[in-house]
Amino acid sequence: MLIAQLSDMHIRPKGQLYHGVADSNRMLTEAIRHLHSLDRSPDLVLVTGDVVDEGNPDEYAAARELLAELTIPYLVIPGNHDRREPFRAAFADHAYLPESGPMHYCIDDYPVRIVALDSTVPGLHHGYIEQAGLDWLRTTLESNQVKPTVVMLHHPPFACGIPYMDTYRYLEPEPLAKILGDFDNIHLVLCGHVHRQMLRRWAGTIVCTCPSTTTEIALRLSPNANPASFLGPPACLLHLWDDKQGMVSHTSYIGGFQGPFDFA
Ligand SMILES: [Fe+2]
Ligand SMILES: [Fe+2]
Repeated sequence: MLIAQLSDMHIRPKGQLYHGVADSNRMLTEAIRHLHSLDRSPDLVLVTGDVVDEGNPDEYAAARELLAELTIPYLVIPGNHDRREPFRAAFADHAYLPESGPMHYCIDDYPVRIVALDSTVPGLHHGYIEQAGLDWLRTTLESNQVKPTVVMLHHPPFACGIPYMDTYRYLEPEPLAKILGDFDNIHLVLCGHVHRQMLRRWAGTIVCTCPSTTTEIALRLSPNANPASFLGPPACLLHLWDDKQGMVSHTSYIGGFQGPFDFA
């Protein structure tokens, strides 16, 4: 099974730029074309939040119009730039999304089980999951402790060292770590939010964050660093699963590059 991950598209109303500089809508179209052009088609696309930038219906209308081009099934979770009810309304045809409250869900239709967590806190930018969500997670994981499982949530559950991102990090990750640490069939925890790829060993598994299809957060590790981002190379992740190798995650840059050149 090949799972593609797109993140942090920050779609704007038609004709408007993200932060006045990035044509995030066009860049989503390019990301979709990129997935369609791969020599092995992904079986599923995971969209790990910040689908739109301000959470308004006109942005979701633009997002749905762009996503209509995608011929591969996809699953969505919200990020801190989404707003829960407009998000739910925009994806009303995605029957796996709960009709009220946080949008946690589990998909069992593929060789890899997908457990999705809604780490958004309405009106705020940090991440957090209340006890009811954690209880749902434990019950869900207990119901199948054999099948290879991927967990996804928008906010990475660790401080990444970029100070202006850590201000908006997932708060109190220990209870979440305690639950995930009790299961040994969780191969990856997939996140967005930080607009960069990062890896961390955590809770007995691996957390992997996805680049954005639009801007790249500046890699500034000084405690006094000022927030900034770049029009760096947009990318997506491709998570390749098979029973023997387990999960192997690739970064796939979106754009035109010189080559291909003969390897020999
Ligand atoms: Fe984002
Ligand atoms: Fe975010």
